Amino acid sequence: MVVTTRQLIKWKQQKRPIVTLTAWDYAIAQLLDEAGVDVILVGDSLAMVALGYPTTLPLTLSQMLHHAKAVRRGVKRALVVCDLPFLSYQESIHQAIRSAGRALKETGVEAVKLEGGHPEMVKTVAHLTAIGIPVMGHVGLTPQSVHQLGYQQQGKTPQDQERILTEAIALAEAGAFAIVLEHIPAELAAQITDTIPIPTIGIGAGTHCDGQVLVTADLLGLSEKQPPFAKPVVNLRQVITAGVQDFISEVTNKK
Ligand code: KIV
Repeated sequence: MVVTTRQLIKWKQQKRPIVTLTAWDYAIAQLLDEAGVDVILVGDSLAMVALGYPTTLPLTLSQMLHHAKAVRRGVKRALVVCDLPFLSYQESIHQAIRSAGRALKETGVEAVKLEGGHPEMVKTVAHLTAIGIPVMGHVGLTPQSVHQLGYQQQGKTPQDQERILTEAIALAEAGAFAIVLEHIPAELAAQITDTIPIPTIGIGAGTHCDGQVLVTADLLGLSEKQPPFAKPVVNLRQVITAGVQDFISEVTNKK
């Protein structure tokens, strides 16, 4: 069965957890899809994990589309969602429609993800969904605002918690089909999950969300810096270094 945005909402109603991971190329996407991941996010974290930038901000729409095409070619079952990079949608609703439209038309992904839930972004989401472009929201820690928020947990004060809850409700009302909740207290994520009718996909937001997402490089121990909430299941940096050193030794010793 191919995963659709409607299926994710049914899974929330059935309390069937939604498994999401990020991918940045064909090989990773194929492995995740074959393993049974439900949603594959071409996250703009690829700027850091695949392109070596210090933040997600330098990533361009052309770079993102190039990676999204490769990911889409590797996937048969999962829903593929493409992040819109920093400043490819914040300028105007018109710009957001053009960028999201390019993502769907040129790469074949089924949906886009945008960061933020302030009133201007909610209007943008309402426009995109009204013309048939499925949108995943993203609130809490939004890495495209790193120079304002840093990478620390959000929603620590009652006012901040109220704001994040209001943003999630507004995004759901604007037609988003799911929302990423990043690095917020578990109790707040639980409250949002119980309030809105669409799935919440948590990352560092406790176990009560309708699904979970991680950056695949963090899950596999490929990242140079590990976020506090991501537990690697394997240390691929060590595995790859050991394999390459074996090869160096065999070549050097003419084996
Ligand atoms: O870019 C990304 O990988 C993301 C996830 C952290 C949700 O947005």
